[in-house]
Amino acid sequence: MQIYIYCTTFSLCFKGYYDIICVMKIGNIEIKNNLILAPMAGVADMAFRELCIDYGAGFVVGEMVSAKGFTMGDRKSAELLRLSEKEKPAAIQLFGTSPEIMGEAAKEATRFDPDAIDINMGCPAPKVANTGAGSALMKDLPLAKQIIKSVVKSTDLPVTVKFRTGWDSESVNALELAKICEGEGAVAVTVHGRTRQQMYAFPIDYGTIAEVKRAVNIPVIGNGGIRDVQSAVKMFNETGCDGIMIAQGALGRPWLFQQIAAYLNNTIILPDPPLESQMLTMIKHIEKIVEYKGEKVGIREARKHAAWYLKGTRGAAAYRRKCGELNSVEDLKKLAAEVLINANNQNDM
Ligand SMILES: Cc1cc2nc3c(=O)[nH]c(=O)nc-3n(C[C@H](O)[C@H](O)[C@H](O)COP(=O)(O)O)c2cc1C
Repeated sequence: MQIYIYCTTFSLCFKGYYDIICVMKIGNIEIKNNLILAPMAGVADMAFRELCIDYGAGFVVGEMVSAKGFTMGDRKSAELLRLSEKEKPAAIQLFGTSPEIMGEAAKEATRFDPDAIDINMGCPAPKVANTGAGSALMKDLPLAKQIIKSVVKSTDLPVTVKFRTGWDSESVNALELAKICEGEGAVAVTVHGRTRQQMYAFPIDYGTIAEVKRAVNIPVIGNGGIRDVQSAVKMFNETGCDGIMIAQGALGRPWLFQQIAAYLNNTIILPDPPLESQMLTMIKHIEKIVEYKGEKVGIREARKHAAWYLKGTRGAAAYRRKCGELNSVEDLKKLAAEVLINANNQNDM
């Protein structure tokens, strides 16, 4: 399996929004640009992934799924692996500690027709890391190597690996793990520029990502702390990475992909969309969640998304409380109308 990257000097038209300057190709899959939506359990579900693709993400990664749960027939795990045609190209992500089970899960997951399989070696959550999976694999590189080998052997799909800079500041070993990934046939790596000890805190360690980039010949995707166009550019400039992966920066702001692409392609600084469009995007997003999960479950999950969309608006604290009380799409539409009326009144004052 081979991965090709070609940064083009020509431009390709993408959905009429803007041009693309950098195309990535993983095996036989063409990724229309190098802006990738990160996997986010409980957040980056099918509805959000489709929305981010609409706003220009070139590739998306599904929520992490336990290889053990999935191979034991857990219905919820299988549900998480489902991908829609609208969100392609997309990877699914697996986590686990057993090379055999990870391999078996990779083989079985092929029926969901993913374009790639990503292995999670970065999750810091105790319920994952305490079992030896996720970021804990950075403390056991021989096991990490066996897992990658087994997954690569079990599938014809391209395999990628996502990990942190290391377990803690005393044991930064992303470089070593990246070389193992390359040696075992992974076609790309994502390096999250934080240790497990840091969880989600700043600063981002751009230096280690840059070192990884210099040391391997497979594409390196830089991740961590990308919240706006400036931090996206900083990730590219400081690390030389081939692509960037965005997680929290896109929450309540899926248009961030469009803004970054507009800047990278044409040095255009797009402002945030007007509040009215933001509210329409929020409604469209939450209607999709409800369509896919039903109103009862969907609205419960959508409350946090609504709060993210309203973050930064005047009166956000009060709106956040109201988001927690949403019970239907109708409630959401009423809240959006209230936000717009209040904003107009404030503008008139
Ligand atoms: C709510 C949430 C869920 C996450 N779930 C996953 C996951 O399922 N798999 C994974 O590899 N990383 C997961 N991550 C980590 C992100 O993919 C990303 O590496 C991290 O948030 C750093 O990027 P950021 O600074 O852009 O947020 C999650 C992060 C958040 C905030």
